[in-house]
Amino acid sequence: MSQAFTKSMARNIFFGGSTFFFLLLVALTFDTMQVLPKRDHRENITPAVERGKLVWEKNNCIGCHTLLGEGAYYAPELGNVYARRGGGEFIKAWIKSRPAEGTPGNRRQMPQFNLTDQELDDMVAFLKWTGEINTAKWPPNIEG
Ligand code: HEC
Repeated sequence: MSQAFTKSMARNIFFGGSTFFFLLLVALTFDTMQVLPKRDHRENITPAVERGKLVWEKNNCIGCHTLLGEGAYYAPELGNVYARRGGGEFIKAWIKSRPAEGTPGNRRQMPQFNLTDQELDDMVAFLKWTGEINTAKWPPNIEG
């Protein structure tokens, strides 16, 4: 004869399970709070990085690009562009050299933003800082 599944057994499973998963949630939350500050190296957020983020937002770069996976899939991932292109000179030259009228015959175009030298330097500082976030090796390949 199989044993009856009593009300009190059901209650114990409910309260035991709830307590276990609540404690697990608290532990994982605590762990995240400990680990995140080390991974995003926020101590390296200089005024230039902050200004670069504003240039990024003002010009809606994310309307075409992704940054660490977030954003639009029209243009390449830029979270690792600093490493991909070996530093800031390429990035500045690229942004500066976009033709004002677009490139004829090329359907995927990046506009000319007419950024000042200061804005270009700040943008590079922002992309360098972003590239140094510990993302556990994501994106998995350097082309983004
Ligand atoms: C209208 C869409 C659009 C916007 C907005 C845009 N881009 Fe781009 N961007 C592109 C496209 C498309 C490419 C790739 C072109 C190609 O491969 O020929 C590109 C390429 C780049 C590259 C070179 C990537 C590489 O791997 O070589 C950089 C750097 C870049 N963009 C930076 C920016 C920044 C910074 C902003 C904001 C100021 C921005 N883009 C805004 C469309 C855009």
